[in-house]
Formats: sequence, C-alpha cells, structure tokens
Amino acid sequence: MKALEGVRILDMTHVQSGPTCTQLLAWFGADVIKVERPGVGDATRGQLRDIPDVDSLYFTMLNHNKRSITLNTKHETGKEIFTRLLEECDVIAENFAPGALDRMGFSWERIQEINPRIIYASVKGFGAGPYEDLKVYENVAQCAGGAASTTGFDDGPPTVTGAQIGDSGTGLNLALGIVTALYHREKSGRGQRVECAMQDGVLNLCRVKLRDQQRLKQGPLTEYPQYPQGEFGEAVPRGGNASGGGQPGWIVKCKGWETDPNAYIYVITQAAAFAGLAKAIGKEEWLDDPKWNTPEARLPKLEELFEEIENWTKTQTKFEVMEKLNPVNVPCGPILSMKEIAEEPALRETGTVVEVDHPKRGKYLTVGNPVKLSDSPSEVKRSPLLGEHTDEILRSVVGFNEDQIASAKEVGAV
Ligand code: COA
Repeated sequence: MKALEGVRILDMTHVQSGPTCTQLLAWFGADVIKVERPGVGDATRGQLRDIPDVDSLYFTMLNHNKRSITLNTKHETGKEIFTRLLEECDVIAENFAPGALDRMGFSWERIQEINPRIIYASVKGFGAGPYEDLKVYENVAQCAGGAASTTGFDDGPPTVTGAQIGDSGTGLNLALGIVTALYHREKSGRGQRVECAMQDGVLNLCRVKLRDQQRLKQGPLTEYPQYPQGEFGEAVPRGGNASGGGQPGWIVKCKGWETDPNAYIYVITQAAAFAGLAKAIGKEEWLDDPKWNTPEARLPKLEELFEEIENWTKTQTKFEVMEKLNPVNVPCGPILSMKEIAEEPALRETGTVVEVDHPKRGKYLTVGNPVKLSDSPSEVKRSPLLGEHTDEILRSVVGFNEDQIASAKEVGAV
C-alpha cells in the first residue's frame, strides 16, 4: 500500500515551489488533483519549451502522478465546483501571489466553514512584515534569505546557486508541514493552516552562516579563505569553496581541467585522515614536520596546502583521485556534470533518475523521489495533459452527472 493512499489533495499550485510539494505527496500515493485555468494551465507548461506545442520539461518534471482538471475559480459555477472539491479533499495547497485565494472568495475562514478538517497549505515569498505582499521567484528568495551574500568568491559579486533552494527547498518544507498537520488531525479532528515562506526556507538552509555571523564578533573566521591575510567586515563574507563545517576543504583541478570544465574534485583535509592524504600526494615528510603535522599548524597555510594537493590531483582524473583517496578515508567528491549524472547507472538503479514516457513528448528523464520508503516504493508516472481528467473528476469527486458536466463546459466554468 502507498503511504498516503486515501489522502486527497486539491492542488492549486503552479510554477515550482508548490508543485514540488504536491508531486512528492503524489509519489507517496496521495490523489493530487491539479486545478488549472481553462485554456491556459500552469504557466510552466509553455515555459522553456524544447518541442513546439508540447508541455515543457519544466512542467512535466514537476507534475508527475497528478490528475489535471481545468476550472475557472472566478466563475460562479466554477466556485460551486471548487466548493465541492474543498468538501471532498483533505488538503488544499497553493502558492499564488499573496491574497489571490481571498480575492477568489475563499478566505481561510470560509474554507474552514466549508470543511473544518481540511489543511490549507501555502507557499509565499515572505512571512508577515514589510515584504509580505510581494510576488517572489527563486532567486529573490535566495538573495533575501542570506544565500547570495554568502555564496561566491570574495572578489566577486553575490552569487545565486543552481540548486533551487527557494522553490524546491520550500516545497519540501510545505510537504513536511502537510504531513505533520495530517498527523495532528488524527488526534484533534481539525485541519489547520500551514504557511511556508521562501525567505525562511532559504535561511533555514543558511543556518551555518547565521552561526558564523555571531562567531565573527569573537574574531576572524579561520576556516574562511579570507584568513589569515584578508580582512573581515561586519557581515559574514562569501566563503568561496570553503567547507561550512570545521574541516578545511576546497575544489582542486584534476587531469583534463584545461578542456573539461568539470575535471575537478572536492577534497576535505580532515585531521583524522591527514596521514593518508599526505602519503597519497607524495608529501610523507609533512607527517614529521611541525609546520604541517597538526591542524593548527596547517590552518594559516590552507592555500598552500590545497596548491600542493592540486599539484597531485592534476596528474589524475577525478575518478582516479576517488579510487586513491577513498581507501584512506579522505572525504572527497567528484564534480559531476549533469551529463554524467544523467548517464550514471547507479542513479537509474535506485530510481533517483527515471525515464518516463509521455504521449506527446516521448521518453525523457526526470528526477525521481529522493525519499525511499521500504514498504511503499514510489512509481513515477507521467504528468497529465491540461484538463485530461476534468470529466473524470467532475463525475467521481464532484458528483456531477453528464448534463451537469456539459453545462459546466458550456458556461466556460471548466
Ligand atoms: N481560475 C481563475 N483564476 C485563476 C486560476 C483559476 N484556476 N488560477 C489562478 N488564477 C488567477 C489568480 O487568482 C490570480 O488572480 P488575481 O491577480 O486577480 O488574484 C492570477 O491568476 C495570477 O496568479 P498569481 O499567483 O498572481 O500569478 P503570477 O504569474 O502573477 O505570479 C508568482 C507568479 C509565482 C510570482 C506568484 O504566484 C507568487 O509570488 N507566488 C508565491 C511565491 C511562490 O511560490 N513563488 C515561487 C514560484 S516557483
């Protein structure tokens, strides 16, 4: 049995943050009914299209295992249908601009009147405060949540990361909030509001940087590349490729770096594995040298240390470095390109990268469920076409007969 079988979700989400959440719940077996504007649908269906008139990969990769109903929730008949859906669902999830659902006539108070057991889950850019009314996209959240000011190199501008920590990251928070509220409902019998702000989600992932902001008062942050030569200002600087924990780490070049932009590896010089690392790179003499053989002695010379490591890694491919450093317990990770990830058999094996067949697009790759449950494995099914399940949902969930379905279509409500 699927873990969330029997849970029905009214999915008013669009773009990335909300759909990430409801896709995850759908993979766990929830019946996710995606509500989309008639004739238009989720804007991402048409964004970054690679094939004309075919749902984009942007859309298909965020909306697996869902059913799609088109519904104009601003139309009178549409509102009646929407009210019936609220009665029949356990959760409503949305990530519209602030106030959009209220403007449709469905405030939290009204939703509770319709169904006191329903959980109302929202993503917004910001929580209450000066920015609460703003529309927000991924990189706005990365900038406002502390990620951009702390990412990049000291001599460069603030930098956003490719990982969608504002959108997909907040979607994960929302999913946890929904499942927690469902668990709470078992005892209380009541639904509740779940609100996740993207700024909060990014900051939660930047927790170590707020830690460092407070450490800064006591002196320089010795694990940052600015130490010992550089200056520290009033705020946490950009850390380059330094590790966020206490163990010094950096990205170093490997064989082929001149032509391959991803011929690099991350190496961590953990004290416990330093002897193995020194031997592997041909610097065994360091082990008897007080200038090198303690973490304290190495700390002011990290740049030189990583230069020496790089002199060796440049003679090896990133995978050869892995083969040599893993047996001596030196933590290291190859910089894998998206091409390498797409072709990696182990990721296919575990269902982390999945090939899906789509009636209009054909076969494509997607990222499967990153959470593996031993008793309820996930099956990744293709995303729905716009309104593919409208009739089916009107019939089986809303309880409409064929005449009512025809009339709803005629008046433009669906
Ligand atoms: N029937 C009728 N109207 C519908 C509808 C439907 N099925 N679905 C959406 N709409 C309406 C909304 O009610 C809204 O109307 P309103 O402006 O009169 O209230 C309108 O469509 C547009 O919705 P909105 O959310 O404002 O879309 P947008 O494209 O202008 O903004 C975002 C997009 C993402 C910036 C915005 O939704 C937002 O800030 N969301 C919260 C933060 C977030 O999740 N951002 C990350 C996105 S990955």
